[in-house]
Amino acid sequence: MPVLSYERLPIRKFASPEVIFGSGSIELVGQHAYNLSRRQVLVVSDAGVRQAGWTEKVMGSLEQSGLRITLFDDVAANPRTDDVMRGARRYLDDDCDLIVAVGGGSPMDCAKGIGIVATGGQDIVSFEGVDKVRVPGPPLICVPTTAGSSADVSPVAIITDPERRKKMAIISRLLVPDLSLIDPTTTATMDDSLTVATGMDTLAHAFESYVSNASSPLTDLFALEAAKLVAENLPAAHRRPEDEKAREMMMLASLYAGLAFSNASLGVLHAMAHSAGGFCDSSHGETGGALLECVVEFNYPCVRDKYDMLERAMFGAAGGKGSLIGKIDGFRKELGADRGLESCGLGREDIPYVSRNAAADPCLATNPRKVTREDIEVLYERAL
Ligand SMILES: [Fe+2]
Repeated sequence: MPVLSYERLPIRKFASPEVIFGSGSIELVGQHAYNLSRRQVLVVSDAGVRQAGWTEKVMGSLEQSGLRITLFDDVAANPRTDDVMRGARRYLDDDCDLIVAVGGGSPMDCAKGIGIVATGGQDIVSFEGVDKVRVPGPPLICVPTTAGSSADVSPVAIITDPERRKKMAIISRLLVPDLSLIDPTTTATMDDSLTVATGMDTLAHAFESYVSNASSPLTDLFALEAAKLVAENLPAAHRRPEDEKAREMMMLASLYAGLAFSNASLGVLHAMAHSAGGFCDSSHGETGGALLECVVEFNYPCVRDKYDMLERAMFGAAGGKGSLIGKIDGFRKELGADRGLESCGLGREDIPYVSRNAAADPCLATNPRKVTREDIEVLYERAL
């Protein structure tokens, strides 16, 4: 079976920021920011990334270009509504005109939220859902330091609302950053658990976007190649943290998977991972990884050819549902990432609540198999 079918091309769009990729490219952030800012740059980061030295590196490059900086690094591991509102106040108080986000998905998602609150003048909660953003935020440059979230290319911001113990998905093409400046050397400071969790998130993005009912030849290329790159390089990055080539290829896999899901969207795995992650305040990559096999089993009857293609891309040959699930299980064990949702903090008694939120998540719209709330409850049970 060919990778792509050109028989009847669906009508599809493909949006992407300008992308700069390569080791050492972090040094270029100042000159690109200079083209976009005449006043003051809000740098959004977090404590861990700052400790790793990447925030200071970015600020040094901005200063060299003569730009003034306001630093906002008070961002939780899962960015919260009040982080966004405080960041927007800093942006407005200091009369900023550009945002540079440096870090993983948390600071990048927070930066997206800050931008639309600052220009739209509304509470971040009012943007929850699809296409609720009317006024674009200011220019946004993203410098990712993990190989997984792909927030640097995506039209999505995930913000936790602590009052509802829920992760809100805000989806709008106006959230696609202007520039994604990707320097793979920044991933060298990730510890092993973050390397594996973000790598599993990349794999989940590749799987969900490839089988999505909004996929197309434009996105299939990126999704399939991302799955192949993860299979080839995540175990090496896990075993040998100093393996620069493996880390560079994982950053490329993250970019490819990000381009795929930004344009084909995702599915039930992410709907469930958002809901459980918002409830438990757990790592997104770990939560999604725990759901992968159950979701493949559930969707398999509707997209068996596509799962065969993913199995071939990752493992060289396809042997059907049991074979693919067995190989994913082995892959997760090899990475030490085979724990269930209970280890993320989810209890059996929590399933009705998280299932209700997952059933309302916009990612469900593109899942290849119709999903009911009862289906979601069963999937959570299996993934415990
Ligand atoms: Fe994800």
